Amino acid sequence: MTTTGLPAADWLRYGPLPFAERGMTRIIVMCNQKGGVGKTTTTINLAGSLASFGLRVLIVDGDPSGNATDAYKIEMLDEDEGDTQVTCLLGGKDPHPLVARPFENIHLLPASMDMQFLPARLRERGNALHTHRKMLARFQGEYDYILLDTRPAIDTDTDSMTAASDGAITMVDVDRWAMKAVNMQLAQHEMIMEELERQDFTELGLVISTAKGGSGRFDAAVLNNLRKHPDLANLGEVPYRGADLKEARAMGQPVQMYRPKSDTAGFFRDIAVKSGMVQAA
Ligand SMILES: Nc1ncnc2c1ncn2[C@@H]1O[C@H](COP(=O)(O)OP(=O)(O)OP(=O)(O)O)[C@@H](O)[C@H]1O
Ligand SMILES: [Mg+2]
Repeated sequence: MTTTGLPAADWLRYGPLPFAERGMTRIIVMCNQKGGVGKTTTTINLAGSLASFGLRVLIVDGDPSGNATDAYKIEMLDEDEGDTQVTCLLGGKDPHPLVARPFENIHLLPASMDMQFLPARLRERGNALHTHRKMLARFQGEYDYILLDTRPAIDTDTDSMTAASDGAITMVDVDRWAMKAVNMQLAQHEMIMEELERQDFTELGLVISTAKGGSGRFDAAVLNNLRKHPDLANLGEVPYRGADLKEARAMGQPVQMYRPKSDTAGFFRDIAVKSGMVQAA
């Protein structure tokens, strides 16, 4: 048995991403159904690290609150004015005209308010697991990485995003329910991959946000357990670091661009290397 309580899925890959061929797009889902654990912060700053290694990245904002869209000061799409991710996902339209290009190597597919109805629409459709895969196939070869920033939920939309992915990075905060949330997420990935009969999904590991964790004995025990997770590698611990992240975000930039020599930028570079997304020099 794994820590998820499910029978061990010996085919599920744990560890760094297998090295990708040049010209091949890898899709990574940034997940945890628990809210406020650093999914969006890691997504926008990991994109900055990958771009600093010369890689081309597309972020797909999968959260109707549009935090990743907002982070780069991009306008959310308006369903009353034209197409959105939802019309592309459900109507098979080409999402290219919707892509914003805030930086040369970081592009972003913005969120829109109508995304809040997507889970129900997918449920009505029945077999909806292939919805994101079909839309994202249109970007194959254009980017090195597509990062999917998910909303805090396990639902039809997040399942479809997971099904479209080659691997997952799980963000977690130091909190009483951290381990339970991570293991529920892993169990969900196992279920989806079993249903798809896929054996090529890689759990890249955990990014532990210690931003809100206190220094008491209980938090220390939680942190220790997360560090020793039996299945997931520790890709990095992102501590509360003064103003770097907040200032970069206020400027609409990843910290890698705003303050490239800072320790904070270094943390996100390490995550890119430890996850196998870039090769160490
Ligand atoms: N290392 C850090 N240092 C300081 N603040 C941080 C750090 N990581 C995250 N935060 C802050 O914590 C809050 C939650 O982070 P974030 O929005 O990235 O989480 P999330 O998992 O995407 O949330 P949601 O589930 O709502 O989408 C944000 O206000 C963010 O600025
Ligand atoms: Mg978020």
